[in-house]
Amino acid sequence: MVVKVELQAPIEKKTVIDKLTRTRNLSDGELLLLLATDEYDSELAQSADAVRRSVYGKDVYIRGLIEFSNYCKNNCFYCGIRQGNEAVKRYRLSREQILSCCKEGYGLGFRTFVLQGGEDPYYTDGMMCEIVSSIKSMFGDCAVTLSLGERSRGSYQALYDAGADRYLLRHETADDEHYSRLHPESMSLKARKECLWNLKEIGYQVGAGFMVGSPYQTIANIISDIRFLQELRPAMIGIGPYITHRETPFWNFSNGSLELSLRLLSIIRLMFPYALIPATTALGTIAPNGRELGLAHGANVVMPNLSPVGVRKLYELYEDKICTGEEAAECRFCLDRRVTGAGYEIAVHRGDVKDEAMYGQV
Ligand code: 5AD
Ligand code: FES
Repeated sequence: MVVKVELQAPIEKKTVIDKLTRTRNLSDGELLLLLATDEYDSELAQSADAVRRSVYGKDVYIRGLIEFSNYCKNNCFYCGIRQGNEAVKRYRLSREQILSCCKEGYGLGFRTFVLQGGEDPYYTDGMMCEIVSSIKSMFGDCAVTLSLGERSRGSYQALYDAGADRYLLRHETADDEHYSRLHPESMSLKARKECLWNLKEIGYQVGAGFMVGSPYQTIANIISDIRFLQELRPAMIGIGPYITHRETPFWNFSNGSLELSLRLLSIIRLMFPYALIPATTALGTIAPNGRELGLAHGANVVMPNLSPVGVRKLYELYEDKICTGEEAAECRFCLDRRVTGAGYEIAVHRGDVKDEAMYGQV
């Protein structure tokens, strides 16, 4: 009897990977099996890479990330630019500075610009709309992605009308109780979800996601995250390891694991074949070849930094963030080498989500 059980267990896991690849879904118990073991990581990665290649080929989509303000009115317990961190020097980029980053980025082959900032009320709807429409009129073949946190539906609509194409707003955790352990009382999962649904209804390509190994996170929380993603069906899914920051209340928590982050990338690729999934900067921070590993585990997007070198170190969401000393061009060439070395190719176009209609039917 004992021998039989030992023989059966590994077979079951293989079957689970086959089922996930075929049906793009699993029960909670099956997900638990995959999340709780590292036994089948290479099989998972191979299946995820095969699915990613069948949809996106060798293409890696690049986004030029412009971190335009590190002011934030929020106080998320995990984040280095939280309002309560008085040790950080704050900065804001002007419209002209942002446009000059785009100009440099365009010359380096970027056709998507991501404007990311803390929740900074200084940038009113009027200002943001003007920035978005300037970028769109100067670089007509480029997409604009916004990552400005929670705003009103009217604000999201105005920004969309000004030309914004995509919006990144990680849900962070889909469990109410866990959400309240990561955020102050002024913030709620309900409000976050409402923003995501509003963005989707307006017509944005929406990105959700969460950190792996954030304080108090359980495997059950991760399963809830996956279920929420299945409900929302976002075009983009951002997941990366939690990395601790000394100036936050979570200073003594440890970082999320590389292995679990990679395993989740693969599971998510298999569940969402058409999604745009970044090999995140956080992944590249916890391991020197983290982003290459991310690509091999199902990711198909990278977001190098286009912010002026003078402010890069100040946008420190977590410690030891990579690419903070390099000029945009250096970073772009470094990335090219890394992507090519990993067996993929950088694509010079907007890099929209493929065949969303089909993606939506899964
Ligand atoms: N470690 C890893 N990721 C973090 N983020 C914020 N703080 C950290 C951290 N300490 C992520 C959040 C946010 C995104 C912009 O960066 O998920 O949504
Ligand atoms: Fe930025 Fe290597 S990708 S320096």
